[in-house]
Amino acid sequence: MPADPNPLSPIGVFDSGVGGLTVVRALMERLPFESIHYFGDTARVPYGVKSVQTIAHYTTQIAEFLLEKRVKLLIIACNTMAAVAAQVVRDLSPTPVLDVIEAGAVSALAASRSRRIGVIGTPTTINSNAYARAIHGIDADVRLTSQACALLVPLVEEGWLDHPVTRLTAREYLRPVLAERIDTLVLGCTHYPLLKPLLQDEAGPDVTLVDSAEAMAEQAAQLLGARGLHTPSRAAPEYHYWVTDVPLRFQTIGERFLGRSLSHVHVVQW
Ligand code: DGL
Repeated sequence: MPADPNPLSPIGVFDSGVGGLTVVRALMERLPFESIHYFGDTARVPYGVKSVQTIAHYTTQIAEFLLEKRVKLLIIACNTMAAVAAQVVRDLSPTPVLDVIEAGAVSALAASRSRRIGVIGTPTTINSNAYARAIHGIDADVRLTSQACALLVPLVEEGWLDHPVTRLTAREYLRPVLAERIDTLVLGCTHYPLLKPLLQDEAGPDVTLVDSAEAMAEQAAQLLGARGLHTPSRAAPEYHYWVTDVPLRFQTIGERFLGRSLSHVHVVQW
């Protein structure tokens, strides 16, 4: 493993499945010349309902895989992995590590005027209190309301992005959060940016939605700039996608997440 990351190396991004492609999409827009290796653990998704030990074990395997590809930056695009295993990755990685929770927390604080913030995520993310730690670590006076939304990931995977069932489900989850008169809502799961129009509709125009994918891309751009790690190349970047199950479903759903066609999908046999 090289001691100094190389600016010409790719960025490594990983998630439990397809959801992290929302982060890849934001990175492609913000950093159009950077090559990316994406890892989606499609055979073992969902992580959001698994134990901390299991998630930490899987996360280590994936981080080591991407580090072997000599990535210059590791991005934990999965809120669930970031919530319970970010430190595990930081401890083993010789290259810088960014995670979506850190990025989401900073953006939420920048967006909120009333200091009343809501967070929605998977049960594991919410139960870990990782968002509360990240937000209160910066501003202890914030009033934070969290809500686990176990049903939203399967609804997004089903493609029901503007379906009455999704709308009712979201309304039910958001009711106690909105009752706290929040002015900012953190979308604390990779799948939720696809529900942005529906969630904005349900939350109302006075609530700012924080999309951790966009926040992540901004943080990545700043980190690469600060460390002199932006690629000097102006050639078309290379995108590779590594998955652990047959790639067909990843390909179809992935194109919805990415908003463009997907090639170079490889299956990793563990
Ligand atoms: N990627 C996960 C997250 O951001 C959602 C899917 C899962 O449960 O694995 O929390």
